Amino acid sequence: MAGDSVAPTSSSTSKEPTYILHRTPWRPPVAVRGEGSYLYLEDGTKVFDAVGGAAVACIGTSHPKVIKALKDQVDELPYVYNMQLSNKPAEALAKNLVDRSNGAFSAVGFASGGSEAMESVLKLARQYFVDTNQPQRTNFIGRQLSFHGNTLATLSVAYHPARRAPYAAIMDEKNFHHVSPAYAKRFQKPDETEEQYVERLRQELEDKFVALGPDTVIGFVAETVVGATTGVVAAPKGYFKAMKGVCEKYGALFILDEVMSGMGRMGTLHGWQSLGDNCAPDIQAVAKGLGGGYASIGAVLMSPRVVDGIRGSSGLWKHGHTYQAHPLACAASLAVQEVIEEENLLDNIREQGAYLGKLLHERLSGPNALAAPFTFDVRGAGGFWGIEFDFDQPAAASLDLKSERFALAVQAKALQNGLVIMGFYGGGSLDGVKGDHNVIAPAYNTTKEEVEIIVDLYVKSVEEVLREAGAK
Ligand SMILES: Cc1ncc(COP(=O)(O)O)c(C=O)c1O
Repeated sequence: MAGDSVAPTSSSTSKEPTYILHRTPWRPPVAVRGEGSYLYLEDGTKVFDAVGGAAVACIGTSHPKVIKALKDQVDELPYVYNMQLSNKPAEALAKNLVDRSNGAFSAVGFASGGSEAMESVLKLARQYFVDTNQPQRTNFIGRQLSFHGNTLATLSVAYHPARRAPYAAIMDEKNFHHVSPAYAKRFQKPDETEEQYVERLRQELEDKFVALGPDTVIGFVAETVVGATTGVVAAPKGYFKAMKGVCEKYGALFILDEVMSGMGRMGTLHGWQSLGDNCAPDIQAVAKGLGGGYASIGAVLMSPRVVDGIRGSSGLWKHGHTYQAHPLACAASLAVQEVIEEENLLDNIREQGAYLGKLLHERLSGPNALAAPFTFDVRGAGGFWGIEFDFDQPAAASLDLKSERFALAVQAKALQNGLVIMGFYGGGSLDGVKGDHNVIAPAYNTTKEEVEIIVDLYVKSVEEVLREAGAK
């Protein structure tokens, strides 16, 4: 999969045989211990995880409160099946999520990760219309250059050319449709204002509704801030208001995927509160920052409209998995959420994130920065930052990148330098070829000193790769 993996360090690949069919062409180094955002590898190497795995570990790996909550729950009750018995941590976590939503959500359903949450969102949306006597609604509209998970339905509603390629022949093209991404830096026309760009995208969505038959559309599905595919791309101001307006006009659902950008990652509990025109969705998926990596969990947050529609009809969620609402996952997640609140970590990540962004701008695109000619964009907020490079311009002609994708080479170099970040490619164009970006997503409890370490090691890695390619 395009740029989804951490490349090896010199100290990496162990000689022991592995019985895992790994996701990487190499055998990843084995991590044995975590302390805050530091990870210790089998061979004693210590690395700083500046991306929380995959924007997951939002309070580091060793918070005593979460570890205690997990241990206590193991002692009390490790598992029940939610078709037979509910459990206290699941009930408490659902209440916590509803209580903190200011009325946006009135019920929650659980899943075991992001893809499962998004798959559940799609089914819930369809169930809502079956329950409310609109069974003719069978179409979803997603966006190009998006990612919603790795199951077949979530790959279908998303659209990343490279990721879907091997499976395209078995994907559902009948019920899943796509409109353009909201990615101004690449796709806003030079003669267009922001308002005109938003209006073009709004019109495109409305045209798609009309072409499909407005009363056949279940919903419009978008990541509030696009994560992996294009690298932390927020929509232009007014975009979500306009898109929600089209959904409302035709009675469809406005659906947000905040698996990566939610639960505090952008510096607000929900991404839409700061970067989505404050437009609450009808249904929302969350996952990574919910459990912070202490547990496999995702959740579907349901608005009163959807909950009332279902409660007034079938009265139940026609969807489930064996590990749904798992007591250990819910206990860990509740503790993670309490830590974020008690330690004011959203305030902290807004402040440290702004500092991280400032340093990245200065050191990558400042007047004397070696990387400046190739740095296409530095963007983000809170604990989610994307750095996109471009090698299309004349200054790049003399570089010899040895057919390596730059962002992946930087990711590998950073790991050698003791820093874990993510590298991706193919998010800058609709054919999935252009665009190299890195993602940095520190824990919400990161410190000023840690931000400086991240930037020093990251910029050093970028510059080393550039120098090896001949940059002066
Ligand atoms: C926006 C978005 N949706 C869904 C997923 C899938 O989540 P998971 O990998 O937990 O299945 C991801 C994962 O990166 C994501 O970024």
